Amino acid sequence: MAATDLERFSNEEKRNLSLGGHVGFDSLPDQLVSKSVTQGFSFNILCVGETGIGKSTLMNTLFNTTFETEEASHYESTVRLRPRTYDLQESNVQLKLTIVDAVGFGDQINKDERPIVDYIDTQFENYLQEELKIRRSLFNYHDTRIHVCLYFITPTGHSLKSLDLVTMKKLDSKVNIIPIIAKADTISKSELHKFKIKIMSELVSNGVQIYQFPTDDEAVAEINSVMNAHLPFAVVGSTEEVKVGNKMARARQYPWGVVQVENESHCDFVKLREMLIRVNMEDLREQTHTRHYELYRRCKLEEMGFKDTDPDNQPFSLQETYETKRKEFLCELQRKEEEMRQMFVNKVKETESELKEKERELHEKFEHLKRIHQEEKRKVEEKRRELEEEMNAFNRRKVAVETLQCQSLQATSQQPLKKDKDKKK
Ligand code: GTP
Ligand code: MG
Repeated sequence: MAATDLERFSNEEKRNLSLGGHVGFDSLPDQLVSKSVTQGFSFNILCVGETGIGKSTLMNTLFNTTFETEEASHYESTVRLRPRTYDLQESNVQLKLTIVDAVGFGDQINKDERPIVDYIDTQFENYLQEELKIRRSLFNYHDTRIHVCLYFITPTGHSLKSLDLVTMKKLDSKVNIIPIIAKADTISKSELHKFKIKIMSELVSNGVQIYQFPTDDEAVAEINSVMNAHLPFAVVGSTEEVKVGNKMARARQYPWGVVQVENESHCDFVKLREMLIRVNMEDLREQTHTRHYELYRRCKLEEMGFKDTDPDNQPFSLQETYETKRKEFLCELQRKEEEMRQMFVNKVKETESELKEKERELHEKFEHLKRIHQEEKRKVEEKRRELEEEMNAFNRRKVAVETLQCQSLQATSQQPLKKDKDKKK
C-alpha cells in the first residue's frame, strides 16, 4: 500500500460523522453495568500478619458482619493458607468475597513466606489453565486470584521487622499490598506519626512497591492522592457497640476512655474502608488482572517457549511456536534415546569385562587349588611310600626275629636229650 493510500485510509478511519437522531448506543455503559450486576463480582483479600494481630476483627469490622473465625495456634509448624468464601449482598450487588488467612505467619523461626507466594501463584496458574482451555468458561469461573494483600504491621513504634520487609518484597510483584498498622490504639499519636514515616522510608529504601491509589481518574484523583500520603493506615478493629453520646458506635472501651473505630481523629479505619471498598475495589481487581496476572502469564508462557516475535522481530504465530517446540522436543527425544542406547552399550561392555575378569580370577583360583592339591597328593604319596618301606623293614625284622626265636627254641629242646645220652654212656 502506498504512503498516500495509508494516509487516506487512516483519515477515513478517523472521520467524524454526526448522527441524524438518537440511535441508542449511549446506553452501552448502562448495558455494561447491568451485565456486571447480573454476573456479580468477586473480591479476594489476603490477610498477612502475625497470630492475634487483629485480622479477623478487622475483616468483621470492615464488612460489618461476623465471618467464621477460628483462633490460630502459635505452634503451627509451617505457614498455612486458609481461604474462606462468602456470598454477600448489598442493594442488588452480589459480592463473592474470599478472605484468605496466612495462618501461623510470624511464628516460625525461619522466615518462610514461600507458602504465601505459592498460594498466589497457584491462583494465577488456575486462571491461566482456564484461559488456555479449548472450552473455557471464564464467564462463570470463580476467580480466586488475590486482589489485595492487607499486610498487618505490629504496632511496635520502632521499625519494620526483617520478616515484614522480606515478605513484602517477595509479594510486591504478585499482589497489591496495602500495609496497615494494626491495633493502632496501643500506640500514642506522636509515636504513630514517627512510626508511619519510618515505615514508609524503610519500604522505599528496601525497594518494596506497595499499592498506590490511582490518580489517573479525575473523579478520584484528589482523594486518592491525599490518601496515598496517609499510608500506612493505622487501624483499630472492633465489633463491639458502645454508647457514645446518645448514639451507639463501634468502639473499644477502656477504663480511661473509648476508641471509636469510625472516628477519623481516633484511627484511619474509615480511610481504609473508603479506599479499599468504596473507591478502589475495581482498580484493585483491574490491577490484579492487568499487572500482576499479566506478569505471571508472560513469564509462564515464555518459560513454556511461547514468543510473540522471532529473532528477526517478525511476528511468531502459535502454530510456528508449536512446530518449533515440537522439533525441539523430537530432537531432545532423539538425543535422549541415543544417550540411553550409548549408556546401555557401555553398561553391557562394562558387565562383559567384569565377567571376563571374574572368569580369569576363577581360573587362577582353580589353578592355585589344583597346584595345592597336587602338592598334597605328592606329599601323601611320599608318606605312603615311607610307611610302606617302614612296614617292609618291620616285616623283615619280624621274620628275622621269628626265625631267631625258632632256632633258639629248637636249640633248647635238643639239649636235655644230649645230656641223657651222656649219662647213659
Ligand atoms: P488469628 O486469626 O488467631 O491469627 O488472630 P487474628 O489476627 O485474627 O486476631 P483477632 O481478630 O482474633 O484478635 C485477637 C485479639 O486482638 C482479640 O482479643 C481482639 O479483641 C484484639 N483486637 C483486635 N483488634 C484490635 C485492635 O484494633 N486493638 C486492640 N487493642 N485489640 C484488638
Ligand atoms: Mg483470625
